[in-house]
Amino acid sequence: MEKKQLDWSNLGFGYIQTEARFVSNYRDGAWDDGAIVTDANITLNECAGVFQYAQTIFEGLKAYTTEDGHIVCFRPDLNASRMADSARRLEMPAFPEERFVDAVVQVVKENAAYVPPFGSGATLYIRPYMMGTNPVIGVKPADEYMFRIFVTPVGPYFKGGAKPLTIKVSDFDRAAPNGTGHIKAGLNYAMSLHAIVRAHEEGYAENMYLDPQTRTKVEETGGANFIFITKDGGLVTPKSNSILPSITRRSLVYVAKHYLGMEVEEREVYLDEVKDFAECGLCGTAAVISPVGKIVDHGEEICLPSGMDEMGPATKKLYDTLTGIQMGKLEAPEGWIRTIL
Ligand code: PLP
Ligand code: COI
Repeated sequence: MEKKQLDWSNLGFGYIQTEARFVSNYRDGAWDDGAIVTDANITLNECAGVFQYAQTIFEGLKAYTTEDGHIVCFRPDLNASRMADSARRLEMPAFPEERFVDAVVQVVKENAAYVPPFGSGATLYIRPYMMGTNPVIGVKPADEYMFRIFVTPVGPYFKGGAKPLTIKVSDFDRAAPNGTGHIKAGLNYAMSLHAIVRAHEEGYAENMYLDPQTRTKVEETGGANFIFITKDGGLVTPKSNSILPSITRRSLVYVAKHYLGMEVEEREVYLDEVKDFAECGLCGTAAVISPVGKIVDHGEEICLPSGMDEMGPATKKLYDTLTGIQMGKLEAPEGWIRTIL
C-alpha cells in the first residue's frame, strides 16, 4: 500500500476527504448489512429528524501507525458502548457494538494510505456518527436512521502543539443539570459554539465550564476533560454526571495508578482550589493531553506553577506513557489495542 503524499508533520486538525466511508441504514426496525461507499455527500429529505430536532450523535477515536509498522486503534469497544449510551438517551436505535468495531476496522483498512506514518505527529481521526433521516415534524424521534463512519488525517487539535494553553472560565453553561452533558450529542456542541467563538475572540484557546447547578465546580471544556496534578504529584480529575466520560481520562487514571504509581482521586473539584494545583491539562482523543498554563476567571489569573513554556513533568510522564501505549512502544493493558493491519 502506497501512502498518500501529504505534509504529515504540518497537518492541522481539519477535514481531508478520503476515498472510503462506511454507511448502514436503519429501516423497519433493523439495521441493514452496511457497506463501504465512496460518496462523501448525503442527500436527505428537508424534514429529516436531524435537521429539525438535531437528532444526531457522534464519536471520535484514532488510528495510529506503531513503531513496528502496524496500524492499530485504541479501545474502540469503549467508543462503541458510549455511542450506544448516547443513542439510548436520544431515543435512537443503538448500532450493535461489535458491528461498530468491525466497521471501524473496515474503514481504516480501506483508507490505510491516509494513516499517518509513525513519528510524524499526525494520526487518523475516525468519526462515527448517526442521525435521524426520515421526515418528522411533530417533536418525536425519527423512525429511520443512518450510521456512518468517515476518517480524516489530523495533526494537533490546538495550534502550537504542546505549548501550554490559556483558557477562561466561561459564563455560559455547556450542559443542563440532568441534561445531555454525559453523552456525545451534536446538540451539546451547538450549545458551545457561541461560547467558543467569544473565547477565541478574546484570545483564549478554550472555555472552562463550571457545573451548571452551582457554578462552583470544574466540569470540562468544549471538547476535553480536565486533569490536575497536585503539588505532591497525585492526579485529580473532576467527577460529575454532566461531563462526557472521556476514554482518554479513564485510560489516564489507569496509567497513573498502574504504570506510574501515582495517587489518583476522581472527585468534585472546586474552582477555588484550582490555584493550589501544580499542573493542569486537557485530555481527549483530539486533545491527547494539552497542557494548560493559565486559567483566567473574570480578570483574575490562575497561573499554574508549571508555567507557559512547556508541559509540566507529571503531565509529560502521563503523555509519554499513554502515547507510548497507543503507538506500540509500551506494552498495553489487555484489550486496549485493536490491530487493524
Ligand atoms: N469531553 C468532551 C466534551 C469531548 O467532546 C471529548 C471528546 O471526545 C472528550 C471530553 C474526551 O473524550 P475522549 O477521551 O473519549 O475522546
Ligand atoms: C474528540 O476528541 O474526539 C472530540 O470529539 C472532540 C472534538 C472537540 C473534536
